[in-house]
Amino acid sequence: MVDTIPSELYQRAKDWTFQEIIARRLPGKDGIPARVSKFNRDFRLAFRLEGLDPVAITARMKSEGLLRIHPAKHRADVWLFPTQIGLDCANLEDLVGEQKQEFDGEESSEDKRKNYTHKTESRFPNYDYPAKNSWRENWIRFLGSNLSVGPNTRILTFLAPQALELPQYDSLGIRRENIVCVERDREYFATLEDKQLGVDLHNTEMSDFLQKTDCRFDAILLDYDGGISEDVIKTLELIVDRGLLRDQSVLGLNLFDRRESEERKMLYLEPFLEQGMPGYHSAGVNPARDILPPTITASQRDMNGIRDYGITAVVLKLLLGKDATRINQRMLQHLPWKERESWKAYIASEAPKRYVDFIRINDELREYLQVETGSQCVDPMLMKLAVLSSLEASRPYFVTKQFRSQYLTEAKNNGFYSDFFALDTRREDFRVLDHRLLTRFARGQEDLCNLSRKWKRTNSRTRKRISHQIRGGYDDLMLAYDGFFVGEHIPERARIL
Ligand SMILES: C[S@@+](CC[C@H](N)C(=O)[O-])C[C@H]1O[C@@H](n2cnc3c(N)ncnc32)[C@H](O)[C@@H]1O
Repeated sequence: MVDTIPSELYQRAKDWTFQEIIARRLPGKDGIPARVSKFNRDFRLAFRLEGLDPVAITARMKSEGLLRIHPAKHRADVWLFPTQIGLDCANLEDLVGEQKQEFDGEESSEDKRKNYTHKTESRFPNYDYPAKNSWRENWIRFLGSNLSVGPNTRILTFLAPQALELPQYDSLGIRRENIVCVERDREYFATLEDKQLGVDLHNTEMSDFLQKTDCRFDAILLDYDGGISEDVIKTLELIVDRGLLRDQSVLGLNLFDRRESEERKMLYLEPFLEQGMPGYHSAGVNPARDILPPTITASQRDMNGIRDYGITAVVLKLLLGKDATRINQRMLQHLPWKERESWKAYIASEAPKRYVDFIRINDELREYLQVETGSQCVDPMLMKLAVLSSLEASRPYFVTKQFRSQYLTEAKNNGFYSDFFALDTRREDFRVLDHRLLTRFARGQEDLCNLSRKWKRTNSRTRKRISHQIRGGYDDLMLAYDGFFVGEHIPERARIL
């Protein structure tokens, strides 16, 4: 079987094996114990998608004279030693000098407990295993501490046939009809239906459901059983763009830590590619200031860092609302006619396709609005208002709390990354736009010149009061935007076994 694997894949497995043996060796040792050093476990994780077995691969390497394999003395383990021929053939370019993992040959009972082996009980995937159970507990804890949960709390989730989340929602007192479950698999869906759980079930794709629903949710949990994909991005985009989460809400995203195709890796990389965005730098990750994976190269080791922060960065970008997915029309409307036309021509010629482009152009437009138009005899306070109304039109969600974690599981299990976000639309900062003097302008039905004329006719006491509110909202929002991507606000990912 192992002889039939593609040569490119076998080469990759060999390189990985040599690199890991060298990285894991204790000082003075030439080899490693395959099991105790967690080589076997990590090999299975690294090649899970391809289904490679470390025992078969190392046996083949031995038969080719690339490795020596000796039984270990006191346990059911073997020592792996690279031969000189093996080392000569190996591609060790990506090797990191320091040893990755320390081991002393003894496996504690704690390790044994963590090295749980997942067993499938039925024809359905089994989500009842320690890492998943502890993740579920963390989710419920996060939900409970960031929302005022009650019978009417509405949750959108993938329950899967076993519906293991349900008892936890029950324990929070949430009414079953407020649990909305989307399941695309017909058989899984039928199983859920047969159970008569009293939840609101939909047999469809999540993105299709989100396209149509007009419900707003207190929490949305996207517990995927796969990695990043265009569909995941589209789903997140729909949630934010259609404002499907309530003003104070919680969003959860789980993604597998599987190896992605080169194309899909770009989905993580995109937020990091943009450098040095001007002004409203919250719009992009700024490598000089923000926390980033140590180096961004194509190597597998760095890919872990890119994935780790990439998942969070993708979500944060999309939380900027419509500013991440299209040109902010409200902002264009606030510009004088001539400038508006020239921006439109510029936008058409640039033909932006990626959301970082939209964010950057909106950022530039906003700056232009403040700097250029501000100098054209319009009260600076109204310029702040124009910025405020364009931000409102984008409908962003601000992160008030995050919990980032990674769940590591035994080889046959599914390790995954998990991101929880507590969100707030900061409605109170935009409230001034509801003032009757400003509503037409805030809806884009009135231009700055008109508003300016009205503003001058308004009595000074009202102007003062409104100005105070504009300034408050504007300053608070600018601060919040500034914090969107700042590294210190992105917590380290907890590693949970
Ligand atoms: C990882 S499981 C959910 C496990 C559950 N949260 C738990 O803790 O027990 C994901 C479920 O969602 C379904 N699913 C995955 N992606 C989906 C999508 N895009 N639309 C609809 N259903 C999806 C899968 O068929 C599967 O039953």
